[in-house]
Amino acid sequence: MTITLSGKSNVHAVVSVAGDKSISHRAIMLGAIADGVTEIDGFLPSQDCLSTISCFQKLGVTIERAGDRVRVFGNGLRGLQKPAGFLDVGNSGTTMRLMTGILAGQNFDCAITGDASIQKRPMERVFAPLRQMGARFSNNSTAPFTIYGSTLRGIEYTLPVASAQVKSAILLAGLYAEGVTTVVESVATRNHTELMLNMFGGKICKREQYSTCAPVSKLIAQKVSIPSDISSAAFFIVAGLLIPDSEITIERVGVNHTRTGILDSLAQMGADISINNRCQIGGEPVADITARASRLRGISLGPDIIPRMIDEAPVFAVAAVAAQGQTIITGAQELKYKESNRIGAMAAGLAKMGANIVETDDGMIINGGAPLRGATVMSHNDHRVAMSIAVAASIASGRTRINDADCVDISFPGFFELWRKL
Ligand code: S3P
Repeated sequence: MTITLSGKSNVHAVVSVAGDKSISHRAIMLGAIADGVTEIDGFLPSQDCLSTISCFQKLGVTIERAGDRVRVFGNGLRGLQKPAGFLDVGNSGTTMRLMTGILAGQNFDCAITGDASIQKRPMERVFAPLRQMGARFSNNSTAPFTIYGSTLRGIEYTLPVASAQVKSAILLAGLYAEGVTTVVESVATRNHTELMLNMFGGKICKREQYSTCAPVSKLIAQKVSIPSDISSAAFFIVAGLLIPDSEITIERVGVNHTRTGILDSLAQMGADISINNRCQIGGEPVADITARASRLRGISLGPDIIPRMIDEAPVFAVAAVAAQGQTIITGAQELKYKESNRIGAMAAGLAKMGANIVETDDGMIINGGAPLRGATVMSHNDHRVAMSIAVAASIASGRTRINDADCVDISFPGFFELWRKL
């Protein structure tokens, strides 16, 4: 589907976005290996999270869903069953990586596959530490691959790349290992696995950059309420800042510190953002976020903050294009290994719209302030690229066409309907 968008002005709105994708995946996975019935509300019914549900159904878990409410009838830590045929993760890297951690220590073999994009995404970063734990895999470093169920032992592993998916895969494998498993990270990544595992009765101890998982005999089903996804809210936050005379509030957004790098970076650019009504939902901090039209100035961003805003980097690039002065992003090479090469995709798309933007090996150099004009831009079948270009379209003259725009369903079904309502 190709979508055509034009500029906006004077948007005053209060919006809600759907549940957090990372937390939705984890709620299904932990519910599946817990004892009892896990009841989830605020679940994100996007393609990626539905892939997680269908994989765990194939592993013998009963899962019922009505809209954003899900019931997972847990099979217990040792109760997953050998699936018939491949587990298909679709486009979802989180499903593939985290599930590999869970499956490495089972007493059966199984094979994982996914779509064309998933078949290019690196798995060696997960296989290497899991092999040290005793796991065995077929010889390919991308999907499709086979996991041969093995007996695992705990290790201490220092992450060579900042990745919550790799950290989580190791900690989840640690549930099945003999002895304790420790992951050391030099830059903090999202900690939803650690928080939720402890909620389910797991024993995760966090000390400075060390996260240690001790084995437990069982996990216990929980009621999980999922806050709105800050990665989805980010499109409306940046829109509120860039569209003249606007004010947009996004309600009940997850503001876990490991996810709020985008708010810190935009504040550093001079953004008028306020955070109100702070509370806790499902063990996670939540707040309403209001973004008002602002004059932004360019800044430099480095590897210390990128992991806290890895999924928001594409829409951050749009903010930088609209800012006065130069923005330099470094230490963001991981963006090349996402659903698309997000450095290349965003640099090409925004340049086509008139931005002065140069792709570098590990980021971008953006000379902000060049007026944007509508163009035909490829989404590269990447949901976050498509939605970031929609934000750019809102401040461009003329019409912008986004190809393969239906990929937004990966994380944000209904995005364009909500966008049009604004
Ligand atoms: C995710 C972690 C991030 C992020 C992805 C979801 C997760 O990846 O990009 O969309 O749920 O753990 P890495 O931290 O592995 O780069």
